[in-house]
Amino acid sequence: MRRLLPVTDQSSGEDREWSLDELADAYAYPDALEGAWLRANMVSSLDGAAQHDGRSQPLSSDTDMRIFGTLRGLADAVVVGAETVRLEGYRPARAREAFAERRAAAGQGPAPAIAVVSASLNLDFSLPLFTEPLVPTLVLTGAAAPQDRVREAEKSGAEVVVAGDGPGVDPPRALRALAERGLRRLLTEGGPRLLGQFAASGVLDELCLTVSPMLTVGDAQRITGGPGLAVPERFAPTSVLEEAGFLFTRYRRI
Ligand SMILES: NC(=O)c1ccc[n+]([C@@H]2O[C@H](COP(=O)([O-])OP(=O)(O)OC[C@H]3O[C@@H](n4cnc5c(N)ncnc54)[C@H](OP(=O)(O)O)[C@@H]3O)[C@@H](O)[C@H]2O)c1
Repeated sequence: MRRLLPVTDQSSGEDREWSLDELADAYAYPDALEGAWLRANMVSSLDGAAQHDGRSQPLSSDTDMRIFGTLRGLADAVVVGAETVRLEGYRPARAREAFAERRAAAGQGPAPAIAVVSASLNLDFSLPLFTEPLVPTLVLTGAAAPQDRVREAEKSGAEVVVAGDGPGVDPPRALRALAERGLRRLLTEGGPRLLGQFAASGVLDELCLTVSPMLTVGDAQRITGGPGLAVPERFAPTSVLEEAGFLFTRYRRI
């Protein structure tokens, strides 16, 4: 892997495998966060597809998955939309030896909590994601969520967090609820409909976007969905890494 941006004396184009420690240093969250910091990690094809045949895996690569794992290794919680959980078969996050020391020093548990965002609570609460996580899985929903499903979720061991007055979740309120629980280094893995709401409500601080060197054609979703913004929001690139034609970009909201 090579660093293309920022250009420094070290970014001389040397192409070598980076250790997980180097990746973790490169992707560190800002120090001393008072509120939540929300970073998204998404992959897109050259023509803007966020999935192929319903999955993001065909657009990904081994290095993309190492960065995906590193971003999880740095996060307090992974916030993810229910459809991605259903389609991608989400499992609990693992404790990884490579990040153990760093997590302990940062006062973090052994693995990030997974926080599933759902209005319907139409989720299979018998899955390991809910019954066998290292740290309890959170379910973020609205006050009008079906109460029998809330009870099912709680019975599985999940913690249900109400972060909206109607059936759905209000994104800024969800982030405040997580921050109140000490979960401030947040990572969202989408999907597009959830990420669109985070972006539209102005709470997305950073986007880690993998540009996959592939064309898919077709009518796949983009990395964000939902109603467009009145004015496009501007982000600034902070880093670009490259490996085997994949670009690992990182942008911050200005
Ligand atoms: N390219 C990438 O990096 C990437 C990343 C992730 C996913 N994907 C792909 O994206 C697809 C799935 O994404 P998606 O956009 O269809 O779905 P999604 O954003 O993962 O999930 C949508 C669901 O999340 C819940 N939700 C969203 N906003 C909510 C709110 N404000 N309050 C309460 N619940 C809310 C709802 O769940 P309920 O229906 O349960 O109410 C909604 O149906 C898959 O094909 C996946 O492979 C790609």
